[in-house]
Amino acid sequence: MWFILYTVGFVASVLYVYSFFRRRLFASFMEHITSKPSPKITAMKKSLFESMKEIVSSDPESKRSGRFRLLEIGPGTGTNFEFYPSNAKLSVLEPDHSFKDYFARNKQKFPHLELENFYEGWAQDMKQVRSGSIDAVVCTRVLCSVPVRKTGPFLAEVKRVLAPKGRFYFVEHVGDRPGTILRWIQNALRATFLYGFLTCGCIPNKSTDEDVKRAGFSSTDATRFHVETDAPVWTLKGFFLRLIASHVAGVAGK
Ligand SMILES: C[S@@+](CC[C@H](N)C(=O)[O-])C[C@H]1O[C@@H](n2cnc3c(N)ncnc32)[C@H](O)[C@@H]1O
Ligand SMILES: *[C@@H]1O[C@H](CO)[C@@H](O)[C@H](O)[C@H]1NC(C)=O
Repeated sequence: MWFILYTVGFVASVLYVYSFFRRRLFASFMEHITSKPSPKITAMKKSLFESMKEIVSSDPESKRSGRFRLLEIGPGTGTNFEFYPSNAKLSVLEPDHSFKDYFARNKQKFPHLELENFYEGWAQDMKQVRSGSIDAVVCTRVLCSVPVRKTGPFLAEVKRVLAPKGRFYFVEHVGDRPGTILRWIQNALRATFLYGFLTCGCIPNKSTDEDVKRAGFSSTDATRFHVETDAPVWTLKGFFLRLIASHVAGVAGK
């Protein structure tokens, strides 16, 4: 009896202390798993973002100078700079301070890329960004961290800030096909408090492509793919990257 009480007390204390550091630890874990991305995800991002070259800005001033306005939501450590064309005027929206140093360090490697605004806040409530003012919105591995009931409002805000011909680019990890062992593990982990707590709200079994299709964009073009990893399965990185192996890459028109 006492043993059980002690154990519960001990685990609760560890989690309580951990709760003060979890955002910073998660940010450093994200930097750890994304600093050498798999060739597959790099290739998918490259081919998806290729079409940004065709964008003609709806903002007369940007158009005159041959530039366009790009908003990245939830850039985290900054994993997408290398894919942006040099005529992009980049703004980012990030709610979490813990990523700031990693973001700044990774941004330094791309000094030619202009960072116009750094907004702090949540995308489901981005009052700082004017309606119809953005030519392209980008999210990579962001919607997995958005609670199910906030996903609709999040996507509605993306649509609101996009210009009439604006595009929404996304690369997200999603739940595996129903019926697979991986999907069973994802559903099971989702049912635990601990998984969400440790990963700062990651939902492993979402169907983000379905959510985008339901959000009322005029067109959606999305492809599912798997991302393999060389990291051994018994390391935290190897386990986590296998757990989130199923991805979707797509673009939606406003
Ligand atoms: C798993 S990280 C991914 C970071 C980066 N985009 C990448 O590809 O590695 C999730 C990011 O989304 C941000 N985020 C989570 N919920 C958000 C929301 N509702 N609005 C805006 N950003 C959000 C987090 O702060 C974090 O930067
Ligand atoms: C994700 O897992 C939870 C818990 O097992 C389950 O209730 C929910 O329906 C699953 N979501 C999807 C989209 O399968």
